[in-house]
Amino acid sequence: MRRFHIRTYGCQMNAHDSEKVANLLYHAGWAAADDADAADLLLINTCSIRDKAEHQLYSDLGLLRKWKAARPGRVLGVAGCVAQQAGDAIQRRFAHVDFVFGTHNLRLVPSMVAAAERGRTSLEVGESDSLARFDLPERHPDYRGASPGRGYLTVMEGCDMFCSFCVVPGTRGREISRPATGIVAEARSLAARGVRELTLLGQTVNAYGRHDRRRGHVGTVSFGALLRRLAEIPGIERLRYTSPHPLFFDDELVAAHAELDVLCPHVHLPLQSGSNPILERMRRRYSVDEYRARVAALRAARPDIVLTTDLIVGFPGETDEDFRRTLDLVAEVGFVDAYSFKYSPRPGTTAASMSGAVGGDVAQARLQELQDLQRGLTLAAHRRRVGGATEVLVTGHSRHGGEQLSGRDPYHRVVNFRAPPGTVEPGELVAVRIVDATPHSLIGEVANPQTLGTMRRLVKGEPGMADEEGRSALFQVESNR
Ligand code: 5AD
Ligand code: SF4
Repeated sequence: MRRFHIRTYGCQMNAHDSEKVANLLYHAGWAAADDADAADLLLINTCSIRDKAEHQLYSDLGLLRKWKAARPGRVLGVAGCVAQQAGDAIQRRFAHVDFVFGTHNLRLVPSMVAAAERGRTSLEVGESDSLARFDLPERHPDYRGASPGRGYLTVMEGCDMFCSFCVVPGTRGREISRPATGIVAEARSLAARGVRELTLLGQTVNAYGRHDRRRGHVGTVSFGALLRRLAEIPGIERLRYTSPHPLFFDDELVAAHAELDVLCPHVHLPLQSGSNPILERMRRRYSVDEYRARVAALRAARPDIVLTTDLIVGFPGETDEDFRRTLDLVAEVGFVDAYSFKYSPRPGTTAASMSGAVGGDVAQARLQELQDLQRGLTLAAHRRRVGGATEVLVTGHSRHGGEQLSGRDPYHRVVNFRAPPGTVEPGELVAVRIVDATPHSLIGEVANPQTLGTMRRLVKGEPGMADEEGRSALFQVESNR
């Protein structure tokens, strides 16, 4: 049997595109290989959000000349955001690449592979605003998905926000939202295949449906209403969504966090900067106070909610004072985690031609300071959980090896824990007592399931009184500045 392997870089959208392609290949009669060495077909799904990710591709492709030559008939394909932007350049520079396809052309993979096997190269980077993009086959019976018990579900694609630093509107194209019936049908099908945690995906996921009338598409509902429908599906025990834009938190979405038991108490809410002039130059379309108001509304709806964020340092024109404001706001909000990046100029973006470049050393020092601050906040938040209990969806064995298992709690925290051998399988939900904390994870031991029942009741009934010890240990956020 012919085997494929997919190497994926970048965000969850990319990871899910790889899953979609894997599923298409299963339907075309392929099976998965554990690594490139065992594969006849290798796909690189690329990311261009920062230049580092893009450089990685070019060094990978150089090394893959040997891979391709090692066995006759091997096929190499390149996908994703770099393919979308630089597809023809990739083909000209790397003759051993058989086909290149962009973010709107996943469905063409089986035919491109077949063409490659007949010795023909292809380049498919056309953009489309057709809903046909969402018509993909159900999960093949042999295809389990990337993680047992968990499933991604695309609700919208593309981005029309055009933040000045961001390459995504160029690589993923215009916003397009999928009709609600198709989303609900896929959710039911995933639930029937054992998915208990569903993560809704979209570049600006809570902008779902906003353009429909203008584009002539039909069948969407409000994002809040979509969450309500999905929450009712039997078998779906956890619902998440990523990444929302602060601008699209309407009252209905905020209320969903108060009302829907299965909606996880975690929101990843990209802030980018804590200084108004920088937010304006970034074209983020909210002020610091507007961001604070979203945070306050979410906390009023769900007091134990955990917020995580994305931040950029060294954006053109960022002064030391701007950066201090970011530090202050990060501490004030008390993010439980943050992904922070040095600004990286991207082709085709307006920020790439802005004056006021920040030197590499300054940006590096700022990044370090921000990450030090966040590490302290994360550790403090994790320590407040020690002594409590939580519900973990088991993803697999811990990266530290041995008998340790790993999973995520409803707050999206990584929990590494011990369990008696053979008692816990990936994909299961288990009660875990938290006994220790690091900046990266909570450390625990499998608890009496009884504990979990008590805990769940408390979380729902009395926010902030969330564990069996009766202390309000769940991320009561405090500022240390
Ligand atoms: N430089 C640095 N970080 C960026 N991001 C997006 N574009 C850039 C860029 N040009 C970050 C943002 C975004 C996250 C996915 O990546 O913080 O939220
Ligand atoms: Fe990029 Fe801004 Fe769109 Fe997010 S909202 S994908 S940062 S342009």
